Amino acid sequence: MVYPVLTLNVLNMSIIPRKILVSTALPYANGSIHIGHMLEHIQTDIWVRFQRLRGHESYFVCADDAHGTPIMLKAKAEGISPEELIAGVAVEHTRDFNDFSISFDNYYTTHSPENRELAESIFNALNAAGHIVKRTISQAFDPVEKIFLPDRFIKGSCPRCAAPDQYGDNCENCGATYSPSDLVNPYSALSGATPIEKDTEHYFFALGHFESMLKQWTAGGHIQSEVHNKLKEWFDAGLRDWDISRDAPYFGFNIPGETDKFFYVWLDAPIGYFASFKNYCVSNNIDFEAFIANGADTEMYHFIGKDILYFHTLFWPAMLEGAGLKKPTAVYAHGFLTVNGLKMSKSRGTFISAREYLNHLSPDYLRYYFAAKLNDRVEDLDLNLEDFVARVNADLVGKVVNIASRCAGFLNKRFDNTLSAEHDNSALLTSFAAQSETIAQYFEDRQFSKAIRLITELADQANQYVNDRQPWVLAKNADHNEELHQICSTGINLFRILMCYLSPVLPDLANRVEKFLQSSITHPNAWQDISTPLVDHQMVSFKHLLKRIESKDVDAMVAASTETQDTQKTGDLPTNIPALDSELITIDDFAKVDLRIARIVAAQRVDGSDKLLQLTLDIGHEQRNVFAGISSAYEPEQLVGRLTAMVANLAPRKMRFGISEGMVMATGPGGKELWILSPDDGAQPGMRIK
Ligand code: MSP
Ligand code: ZN
Repeated sequence: MVYPVLTLNVLNMSIIPRKILVSTALPYANGSIHIGHMLEHIQTDIWVRFQRLRGHESYFVCADDAHGTPIMLKAKAEGISPEELIAGVAVEHTRDFNDFSISFDNYYTTHSPENRELAESIFNALNAAGHIVKRTISQAFDPVEKIFLPDRFIKGSCPRCAAPDQYGDNCENCGATYSPSDLVNPYSALSGATPIEKDTEHYFFALGHFESMLKQWTAGGHIQSEVHNKLKEWFDAGLRDWDISRDAPYFGFNIPGETDKFFYVWLDAPIGYFASFKNYCVSNNIDFEAFIANGADTEMYHFIGKDILYFHTLFWPAMLEGAGLKKPTAVYAHGFLTVNGLKMSKSRGTFISAREYLNHLSPDYLRYYFAAKLNDRVEDLDLNLEDFVARVNADLVGKVVNIASRCAGFLNKRFDNTLSAEHDNSALLTSFAAQSETIAQYFEDRQFSKAIRLITELADQANQYVNDRQPWVLAKNADHNEELHQICSTGINLFRILMCYLSPVLPDLANRVEKFLQSSITHPNAWQDISTPLVDHQMVSFKHLLKRIESKDVDAMVAASTETQDTQKTGDLPTNIPALDSELITIDDFAKVDLRIARIVAAQRVDGSDKLLQLTLDIGHEQRNVFAGISSAYEPEQLVGRLTAMVANLAPRKMRFGISEGMVMATGPGGKELWILSPDDGAQPGMRIK
């Protein structure tokens, strides 16, 4: 049967190219990228890659968010300049994103000349139009560190339930919300000193000037409906002026005309989207100003998490309006990532950094799983690790990739890796290609889970087709040679269509498939080639495309994410470097630690770990099971019967090897030089160390 060149009208419908600028939220430059961040970057990357496949001119930008007090303090604590800190983090972040195949056109930094210039010019425009006001406020000031304290650096006792050491905005114990000035016995988290109130003049952005524009804009289809409802609450609460300045010392850009006042980090952060794009435009000969001009025939999309909606749906559009620039076409918010149904947690080993994931697993697995679960709503998304393994193995490896491996062997052995000129079942190929507009619409609408479901159904059909045609039976009889050739070639072409659909989700796999097929499926505008099958075409020998996930690799990743913390703890043991001011704890902090003398009644090595010893510790009234990272220094036999000191009220921690119910105190730089304290005779198990 001759395969007809597809003439379905929908498929030939030509697509008018759009000009699209897309961003992901700028990660802070003081921490590592984790799989929660990756949810956002994967969602966005899939969308951008899809737009490119459709032939749209798409620009994908991001940057490190490099300014603010926490970054300044972190650099100080590390004894380096903020510039050095952010340069190091930028290298790490770029590598992480790259290894997850996030296809940024530019990854930049907010601490850039472009951003300074844009921030100044937007500020000046807002100022000239009367949207900036100055007002003297009274703010908490740390008299020791000589710094105004951001709310999160003020702690104290809850005004409602008196729980100690609560942050300035809400109580973790009773859930009360309040402002830092309501705290009882407030203290600075930096120095422990009692903050004083000090007057200072700040700059404010008059958000209220934009109320009617914002009400109109937010009702105009630029945000998700659930976000629109949330915004109604914010409008009802009233749009207050936004404090956009911070006093020195601060790491950021000076406000024009000021020497010791800076833009608040959240003012120049969204402008960082533009700065990153501008930096790209300059070296790629694109007219940046024309792209972001009000009324430009371009589109601008911001993908963000639900926690930063206020900044992106109120402040940012208002700033752009006030400066006479283009407002976002849409802001797309996603929910938060949970792992096994819970918030990511270091003690459970589910706070998994991008790098730790990559150390154990291929990025395509996570990209596939996220895609299979993502939709256009602001819902949280759960990475259930068992389901993750099951779904990737059953659907991606077991269904999609399986089609190719079932057909490629015969093509290789019998037909020199060439595809037939004619096909066995062109109706099936036509029906696969006929889904391209439905699938395209799902991608466009960020209904990735629907796209994946449909693609999986097609994979089922393809496998059913191979089952029905039984090429392995035909292969036994040379008379059926042509039929066998056509069936396997049809199978490979079905597989090719599925991989075209999946290529935004699985770019690495798609690249391997391109090598096997000797044909591109990822070039700009490739979507329009979906309906044109490969005929009479030379391929290369099939190589394994994707292996199944092994649960042991997932377990090792979780264990390493748990152990990383242990290692850090060991690394943090007393050294000759005195604590930095910012690391001082209060007497109340210390009083919370229940230190006890313990007798080591049993000690043994731990199967599968070369760091840990499993100790049974007697603290008088009970025995505790503790895993301690001390096997470099002690043989288990040496320890039995000896006394040591332990933290008895540490929350129990589930480790790969069991539950650890406390922690042993040790000193020394590590390796062989590690000593667990053995107090003098006379100490008795259970005694409290004061
Ligand atoms: N620097 C600001 C964004 C400025 S944009 C002009 C910031 N940085 S962040 O590093 O805290 O977060 C970056 C993005 O990652 C945000 O969109 C945030 O919602 C998202 N996520 C952070 N943790 C996340 C999860 N656990 N799950 C999903 N997204 C997460 O906010
Ligand atoms: Zn409370």
